[in-house]
Amino acid sequence: MHAYQARIGELRLDPAGQVQARLDCPPAALPAPGQYLLAYDPQDASAALATPLFAAELLADGFWAAAPLPPAWQPGLVLALRGPLGKGFALPGDVRRLALAALGGSAARLLPLAQQALRQDLSVALFTAAALPRLPSSIEINPLGMLPEALAWADFLAVDLSVEQVESLAGVLGLQGGLPPACPGQALVSAAMPCGGSGGCGACAIPVRRGWKLACQDGPVFDLRAWW
Ligand code: FES
Repeated sequence: MHAYQARIGELRLDPAGQVQARLDCPPAALPAPGQYLLAYDPQDASAALATPLFAAELLADGFWAAAPLPPAWQPGLVLALRGPLGKGFALPGDVRRLALAALGGSAARLLPLAQQALRQDLSVALFTAAALPRLPSSIEINPLGMLPEALAWADFLAVDLSVEQVESLAGVLGLQGGLPPACPGQALVSAAMPCGGSGGCGACAIPVRRGWKLACQDGPVFDLRAWW
């Protein structure tokens, strides 16, 4: 596992009014879309747990970290980072039409994947009920309710959802009778990760078709076939 330092350069509010932080860090520390870093303030003895950080936007020499973040973090603070950790999104080479679906209150954690897809000249459509920042006009924005129709258009689906939403995923995708989605895909599942990715506490367990997997070690991005 790699260790780095990052400095908080700036804070901003996302469209939901939550704080994002721009972290200036070495390029090697940048998380791939869907991966995470564990961050903590070495000077703060009261911060017992590291905070998992996901990128909302990748920069050349840092990244904007998506909410939620500790309220004590302010510009100028130097953080210790571990990572990048976990399995991120992996787009197959033959994907041309990418559907992104944010089931929660923010689409931020899917936007680095959208950045990557646009660089590869893919068609990108985003399905969400969340408030959005200004996005490139080449990203088509759709209501979440249109997601079932998108499965016939897309040749890959990337979902961001919480562990509590896993049970309702089939319904959101409009699937019935236990049938799998019409296109392949992956899902980034949010879960609390109190032991910081060591696999020791089990709190990040995600229900899958055959048992459980750990978001911190087996994910946090899972193939949709984990549920079908
Ligand atoms: S965070 Fe403790 S097992 Fe995953």
